[in-house]
Amino acid sequence: MSGVHGGNFYRDFDLTWGDGRAKILNNGQMLTLSLDKVSGSGFQSKNQYLFGKIDMQLKLVPGNSAGTVTAYYLSSQGPTHDEIDFEFLGNLSGDPYILHTNVFTQGKGNREQQFYLWFDPRADFHTYSVLWNPKQIIISVDGTPIRVFNNRESIGLPYPKNQPMRLYSSLWDAEDWATRGGLVKTDWTKAPFTASFKNFNANACVVASGSSSCKSSSSNNAWMYQEMDSASMKKLRWVQKNYMIYNYCTDVKRFPQGLPPECSAN
Ligand SMILES: *[C@@H]1O[C@H](CO)[C@@H](O)[C@H](O)[C@H]1NC(C)=O
Repeated sequence: MSGVHGGNFYRDFDLTWGDGRAKILNNGQMLTLSLDKVSGSGFQSKNQYLFGKIDMQLKLVPGNSAGTVTAYYLSSQGPTHDEIDFEFLGNLSGDPYILHTNVFTQGKGNREQQFYLWFDPRADFHTYSVLWNPKQIIISVDGTPIRVFNNRESIGLPYPKNQPMRLYSSLWDAEDWATRGGLVKTDWTKAPFTASFKNFNANACVVASGSSSCKSSSSNNAWMYQEMDSASMKKLRWVQKNYMIYNYCTDVKRFPQGLPPECSAN
């Protein structure tokens, strides 16, 4: 069986750092991370996944969150690790968060794309999802795809498919770069800063002692074969046209020798 379940934070996660600043509440239905001048905090999944559809609802640090970063990512271990990142860069009250994304394959990242969101992510919970199957990685916000990373092994590019990943999240201070490139500093009189998490759902292949929960099953893994259809492509283009503020694939100054190969169309 692949793991299909609504989450319970006690069952699914370990609080890994922050000395009491990470908390599980409401019988495991809610998790909060907080940050003050002394420390941030973080948690990680007990399970490791190799392919899946993973959803979490986040409500980001409200009010003046300038300088804070809420990181939410999947990552394997080691120098040639794979990683799929969301980083939410806080801002002054009323100014927009930036959602910073990146994809690492075999230890190599440098694939940043940044977005504004079409809602205020501190006002309410919204769903942030990663669909990861052998063909593509689709990063979505409230079901709207914002970024797709295709398997291009056919042209010799590495794709994450062998290294199981854990889910991690942390809230920390990065006032030297997070907000307007470090111009706006953290206002510690507003501490502690708190981000909240709920409704974790992993419809995913869990890897334990080298074997995958998906191997032995013919279960209901529609996500394993899911691809972008024309309606999803249309939504993706809408986001990219209206909300994308940085795309490494168009940064010709940064890559004078030529844009990375995955940037060219199929
Ligand atoms: C913060 O707000 C400013 C002004 O609107 C904007 O330029 C910037 O992109 C916003 N986000 C971050 C994380 O700096």
